[in-house]
Amino acid sequence: MVKSQDAFSWKDGRTPLCPVHSRIKLEILRDYLMAYFPTISQEKRMDYVNIELIDAFAGGGVLIDAETKTPINGSPKVMIGAVRDSEAAIAAKKTKPFRINARFHFSDADRDAHLRLKTDLADSRYREDVESGKILVDNLKFDRFLSVVLERIKSRPRQKAIFFLDQCGWNQATLRDCNRILNHLPKAEIIWNISVESLAMFANDKDAFRVATDKFGVDLGDAISARDNAVRLSDWRKSLVSHYLHEIKQNCVAKFVSPFMVQHSGWGYWLLHLSNHKEANDVMKVTHWRHQNNSLHEGFPGLRMLEFNRENWNQSSIFRFDAEANQATREALFNELGPQIRRLGEAPTVGQLIESVANETPADRQRIIESLGELKAESACRFIGPAGEKRIHVPQTLDDRIVLSEHRPMFLPGMN
Ligand SMILES: C[S@@+](CC[C@H](N)C(=O)[O-])C[C@H]1O[C@@H](n2cnc3c(N)ncnc32)[C@H](O)[C@@H]1O
Repeated sequence: MVKSQDAFSWKDGRTPLCPVHSRIKLEILRDYLMAYFPTISQEKRMDYVNIELIDAFAGGGVLIDAETKTPINGSPKVMIGAVRDSEAAIAAKKTKPFRINARFHFSDADRDAHLRLKTDLADSRYREDVESGKILVDNLKFDRFLSVVLERIKSRPRQKAIFFLDQCGWNQATLRDCNRILNHLPKAEIIWNISVESLAMFANDKDAFRVATDKFGVDLGDAISARDNAVRLSDWRKSLVSHYLHEIKQNCVAKFVSPFMVQHSGWGYWLLHLSNHKEANDVMKVTHWRHQNNSLHEGFPGLRMLEFNRENWNQSSIFRFDAEANQATREALFNELGPQIRRLGEAPTVGQLIESVANETPADRQRIIESLGELKAESACRFIGPAGEKRIHVPQTLDDRIVLSEHRPMFLPGMN
């Protein structure tokens, strides 16, 4: 058990333990980056990518794995390693050289963590990058660091950037901060850790908590007083979490928000992903499906991911991105896609359908396409390619149009 005063402390040359739930977060970060770079560099002729990577709660750079008791890299080296490994993997598939021109911005408010990270990087094979300014290491609190970083990275509509906001607790990196980042850099993506435990533990109806949530950028409404109507505290917690996420989605300038949690041995936190690209949203969903059992979301499998009805407290369930969740997703999509296609009007494209439900479903693109195939197998719809091609089983491109059948099968809900 890690004592709270020792958690993530690099004081006096110590190396803190990395609990399993935090190690899973590092694995998701690496997996996401390893899938991100091949996705954005698919274009054959593309021979470089320029990107800024920001780790605002960087820690001391090295941790002890709580299970194996061996040293592991903290988030800064996970980011650098994923960029370098992605570069090598992509270059090996291209016929000409390929470069990822990355600049890294690391900061931690704690002096011991900062010094340890600086020393560790200076003694590593990344020394030259530190000396040349490709790796920048600051000792700043997040509020100040964010202004410094946004001054350093000029506001450009096409500037790629990935922010990792691995805060302790829930209110150091706020929704207002995320919106500031996305207004400055519309192509940025944010991977944002929020401790649900802290949020639920400290939620109360005192003014100080309302001031904190206002500062965060969320209107709590009557989410706190609803506690009086809940029979079980866990029900109220689900309702609060659902309300909070709904508010984040409503008030976030990012087009896509994926609201999944990571949990291990009772510890849980949200690892939200904010972006303006449907590809990025899909890559993050695929990453969560890969981390089944530790990735989860408290909600529904189909197109009503966060719907929570306070009239019925026994509704949302734990969705673990596992075989059971896969089955529930298939069944829900089979029932809910038809009505959604109809709502989009005549013959929407597959891309329009996916974009319209991206914030409403834990299903990734592949699962949606396969579910469309299942609807076609039941003669509920057909697909037409951009040049009028007939598709036999499933759509082949995001530009394929979906045409609902005129004679709709009676047994498919919402199709008549
Ligand atoms: C969860 S740890 C980060 C671990 C690191 N991302 C990793 O995975 O290796 C959170 C870090 O945030 C730092 N911190 C706490 N409050 C901060 C603030 N307001 N601004 C910047 N850093 C802060 C702490 O010193 C601690 O090192």
